Amino acid sequence: MPGIKGPSEYSQEPPRHPRLRINAKEPFNAEPLRSDLISSYVTPVDFFYKRNHGPIPIVDDIERYCVSMTGLIDNPKQLFMKDIWNLPKYNVTATLQCAGNRRTAMSNTKTVKGVGWDVAALGNAVWGGAKLADVLELVGIPKLTSATPSGGKHVEFVSIDKCKEENGGPYKASIPLSQATNPGADVLLAYEMNGKTLNRDHGYPLRVVVPGIIGARSVKWLDSIGIITEECQGFFMQKDYKMFPPSVNWDNIDWSTRKPQMDFPVQSAICSLEDVNVVKNGKVTIKGYAVSGGGRGIERVDISVDGGKTWVEASRYQKAGIPYVAGDISSSDKWAWVFFEAHTDVPKDAEIVAKAVDIAANVQPESVEAIWNLRGILNTSWHRVHVRVGHSNM
Ligand code: MTE
Repeated sequence: MPGIKGPSEYSQEPPRHPRLRINAKEPFNAEPLRSDLISSYVTPVDFFYKRNHGPIPIVDDIERYCVSMTGLIDNPKQLFMKDIWNLPKYNVTATLQCAGNRRTAMSNTKTVKGVGWDVAALGNAVWGGAKLADVLELVGIPKLTSATPSGGKHVEFVSIDKCKEENGGPYKASIPLSQATNPGADVLLAYEMNGKTLNRDHGYPLRVVVPGIIGARSVKWLDSIGIITEECQGFFMQKDYKMFPPSVNWDNIDWSTRKPQMDFPVQSAICSLEDVNVVKNGKVTIKGYAVSGGGRGIERVDISVDGGKTWVEASRYQKAGIPYVAGDISSSDKWAWVFFEAHTDVPKDAEIVAKAVDIAANVQPESVEAIWNLRGILNTSWHRVHVRVGHSNM
């Protein structure tokens, strides 16, 4: 398409905030510092993690940009931005989290393959756009459809970017048609992030946002949407982002034995402290985020200062002045993280631990060893930091 480029090299990357922690330069993968991550409930775009598999596409002719609606539909068509803008606009506050968040800590147990991430490969944004359920109605697929008469059961998103894992082809992913056509699932074709036009790093001009599941399915720089029978057969669905048991290694792996990971388990991390800290007196503020998949709210966050022997409950909040009630969508953002906070005295050498519990009573696992997997995804083990009381320049 003229005016629309998926470059195959990195000479035209967008500018980025100098305080991001760069985990890989090409493709660009970066996360904010822990302290920047918890500086606001809605993550500023500059500090929102950036997870790419190729050079950032350039769309400089928005008039010509369109999304092709293809596959098992009666009337394939091309949707231009004006068609998307004409649909009702929704703002959905949702946390996106990369399945590889906290991978570095998993790798410290036993090496895993993949970009190393600390605890900030996630962010919470207000996404503005059209609901995918409304877009699919434009091509004759009614709301709440799980299969079309012609056998379509999945919705595939194909991007403009070029990824080496796809041999220079585009990034792709799919979700079930039942989720895509359910207005309550809040799947968006987003053109805004935090009230401003989406920027290049995050998918300009149009990206998918699928709340409640791993970030890998929220395809950026949308090129086409296909209605298909089986789930997408692309690399990132079939040969990546699957969770294997600890017994599987690179010699005995059989990718076909596992389904692509979709839902996200319950997660939390302390962000007011680094892994090792020296504090002057024995008082610390323990603050961080907790989030679960599937729109499951956070019922509780437990904090321990003795490595998990005894616990206290932290306070939780989303927006200042509004009490957070897990699962109550009239007062809280269903798809978004909560912040937690506790102020406590710590012993001389303390191992501080956070663990969250969601409204389905799912709890983070105690040890990373128990959930170790060769791709290093979904490290949701208890988050631990160490504090030593002594003299410091902090
Ligand atoms: N979409 C395209 N086209 N290319 C990509 O590399 N990365 C995916 C997803 N969508 C990716 C993509 C992954 S793994 C994640 S975690 C999120 O985008 C990251 O979105 P962000 O960079 O806006 O934070």
